[in-house]
Amino acid sequence: MNDLASQPAQFTPAVIHRADYRPPAWLVPDIALDFVLDLTETRVSATLDVERNPAAQDATAPLRLNGDGIVAGAVLVDGEPHNAWAMEGDDLVIDLPGSAHQVTIETTINPTANTQLSGLYASGGLLCTQCEAEGFRRITFFPDRPDVLSCYTVTLTADKAQFPVLLSNGNPVDSGEEDDGSHWAIWHDPWPKPSYLFALVAGDLVPTRDRFTTASGRAVDLAIWVRAGDETRTGHAMRSLIASMQWDEKVYGREYDLDLFNIVAVSDFNAGAMENKGLNIFNTRYILADPDTATDGDYDAVEGVVAHEYFHNWSGNRVTCRDWFQLSLKEGFTVLRDQQFSADRGSPPVKRIEDVRILRAAQFPEDSGPLAHPIRPDSYQEISNFYTATVYNKGAEVIRMMTVLAGPERFRAGTDLYFERHDGQAATCEDFVTAIEEGAQIDLAQFRRWYEQAGTPRVDVALSHDPVSGRVTLALKQTVPPTPGQSVKQPMVIPLRTALFDRQSGTHGGEHLIVLTQGQQQFTFEGHARPPVLSINRGFSAPVAIIAPQTVEDLVFLAAHDDDPFARYEAMQQLVVQHLVAAVEGRLDDDAREAGRKAIGGALAAILADAGLDDLMRGELVMLPGEAYLAEQLNPVDPARVHAEREALKAWLGRELAPAWTALHDRCAAVPFSLDAAARGARKLKTQALVYLAAADPQGTALRAKAQYDAADNMTDRQGALMVLCGLDCPQREEALDHFHARFADNRLVIDKWFSLQAGSLHPDALAHVQALAHHPDFTLTNPNRVRALYMAMAANPAAFHAADGAGYRTIADLILALDPINGNVAARFVAPLGRWRRVEPGRAALMRAELERIAAAPRLSRDVREQVSKSLE
Ligand code: ARG
Ligand code: ZN
Repeated sequence: MNDLASQPAQFTPAVIHRADYRPPAWLVPDIALDFVLDLTETRVSATLDVERNPAAQDATAPLRLNGDGIVAGAVLVDGEPHNAWAMEGDDLVIDLPGSAHQVTIETTINPTANTQLSGLYASGGLLCTQCEAEGFRRITFFPDRPDVLSCYTVTLTADKAQFPVLLSNGNPVDSGEEDDGSHWAIWHDPWPKPSYLFALVAGDLVPTRDRFTTASGRAVDLAIWVRAGDETRTGHAMRSLIASMQWDEKVYGREYDLDLFNIVAVSDFNAGAMENKGLNIFNTRYILADPDTATDGDYDAVEGVVAHEYFHNWSGNRVTCRDWFQLSLKEGFTVLRDQQFSADRGSPPVKRIEDVRILRAAQFPEDSGPLAHPIRPDSYQEISNFYTATVYNKGAEVIRMMTVLAGPERFRAGTDLYFERHDGQAATCEDFVTAIEEGAQIDLAQFRRWYEQAGTPRVDVALSHDPVSGRVTLALKQTVPPTPGQSVKQPMVIPLRTALFDRQSGTHGGEHLIVLTQGQQQFTFEGHARPPVLSINRGFSAPVAIIAPQTVEDLVFLAAHDDDPFARYEAMQQLVVQHLVAAVEGRLDDDAREAGRKAIGGALAAILADAGLDDLMRGELVMLPGEAYLAEQLNPVDPARVHAEREALKAWLGRELAPAWTALHDRCAAVPFSLDAAARGARKLKTQALVYLAAADPQGTALRAKAQYDAADNMTDRQGALMVLCGLDCPQREEALDHFHARFADNRLVIDKWFSLQAGSLHPDALAHVQALAHHPDFTLTNPNRVRALYMAMAANPAAFHAADGAGYRTIADLILALDPINGNVAARFVAPLGRWRRVEPGRAALMRAELERIAAAPRLSRDVREQVSKSLE
């Protein structure tokens, strides 16, 4: 039991359980919303047609309407003032006899005071909404749960000069002007939807327009709305949208279903973007891009998020979630869909490697820490805390395994059945699995454990070879580690794409899909005259940790020869991981260290020289494993040692291969700017060469990096050079930082980069820089992008965050306490880095824990932060 549990009863947080799901007592087939919009005083009138749900368990239950921080001005039932209602906490509960009524409720809200950015809020003079998951109840009283689907008719009235554009979901029905300078617009969305998909936008916005014709011939008007001046940076988002619409028709047979598709970009946004029906609202960072201000990575992120939100129109909107425990039903599936789309648009192996890197850096640590949860959680206190790498990225991996087990055609038959069967419904993960099972004709009975059990399974592999019979035996053993609330685990279904290479010919006789279903299992393969080299979990066919007895020679072989590009990357990573883990654990004497480095250096040199590789892929192969992933292999971990060993290896490789890095940098610097794969690959390698060179020769590389910065005609080169300079103690650092700030002073997204690069840098004073930047005139706690730019970058910078005296932990705890009253949702995101204390060496662990306790002792905390902190201390 933690300290929180001993606080008075009113502090005991309510825990919502999946098992407690009950159908809603009342349905709301139609709702009319009337807004008189104003920055500080918006009046809302909501008229709900309510009727008893025939599927409800209690046929006499009152009508319960959720609210959050709002007050009912008037309550009318069937047009008459009604008094038989009461507030129960934040909920408005109305006693209603009979089975169908019309209920009207008036509320008044202040969007400017809404710093939580949930519900209706002001962003730089415009008004917009974010309702997922439970923001609608901050606008009006409503059964704010995803299984209540309504047809929305929305009337927006506002001052015409201040809010010339008035948008909501669906199609425009009518509009007009009044003599008092106001104007109005009526929108109607014909598709029933839950309240979390409601949206409105009012403000001074400029559209970029295009048009798309669906496969069945429906003409769709597309518009991306941004602030005047930003419309020059919407082209990539528009192209991405059109490509997404085409792709979903071709690959999943899904067409768009309205005459209009609007996207609005706003600067103040808690998440990345939101799939509101017909009116997606985006964080500007996932819309605006041009070569001068956005990196290649930013371009990819725009394409991926535009696609993600568009794909939600089917996986999320047409088929939505029954309750928030089913969040992965839409998010896991939609992440898989956006990953598949981006793979098709670019390089499939490079995309796969990037996705696995994100999973390992963000989700594996979540799965091994105090906040671990299954992709379909069993309970929560605050649902906003479950928009996690587990629900999203592991959720996508779980569905990806279904594609591996079923094959693409049968998987498609499964998704066809799913969409057909559940169109218009609020469905469950179980519905999805059943549809895939029936449509794809595969048995997923045991596979369902992936929805139930948290923790990253570990697979131990032993290979034996009998030279007489030529038989190879693979003995596999799986363990699913205990996680909070789940001490005992059952074996999972783990599909592993596997190949056995012949060392002499460098080839294999075909890939096998082996499916591990038991705790321990053996698989045999005939016809191997020599002991083969094992290539397992190719393409990362299962989101597990493989512990295989691969020698340095095997890994070097696979890094050079494996025909699965992911497996080549994996061999290279494993080569470095094994070496660095041994180094950190003090298991390397001087000779072993030298031998390990030489093996890595040799493999790297071969990759640099391999003419068969494209540069984008080469860029993946030369990347060292990140410190977060290395830390996962050590328990407890000394982050300072991981950092020191990794930096030392990088410096050694920089020195040893200096001529190759220099030649690579020169070759790539000569490639002119374009957005094609070859030029992007060159840009990726250019900065990577600088990274290695800087570790070996800081002074010389400062000149080279400054030259790259000065010559840059695009943000990728500029940011790469500045990133390297930020880590060096050199005069060019200040020069470039000042130049960058001055040149991009009026571009908020680029100034975010300026903060991030300093907070994430290798500079020994990075933490002091962060503390100073918190007082910079451009810094504010009210803009989530700016907060993340400074503090997420710092929390992800091991040398700064894990400063031995605890100053990094204190800085993050101070931030959480200061941000929580402003924006609890964003504040709660910063708890996880501190929550990993149990896997850190005892000295730092105590300091981390002390900061969590300091937060827990605060007199008032948001439900968001309280849940994360109390779970991190349990
Ligand atoms: N559904 C949105 C998306 O993934 C994200 C909504 C985020 N909401 C939240 N409470 N964090 O596209
Ligand atoms: Zn999503």
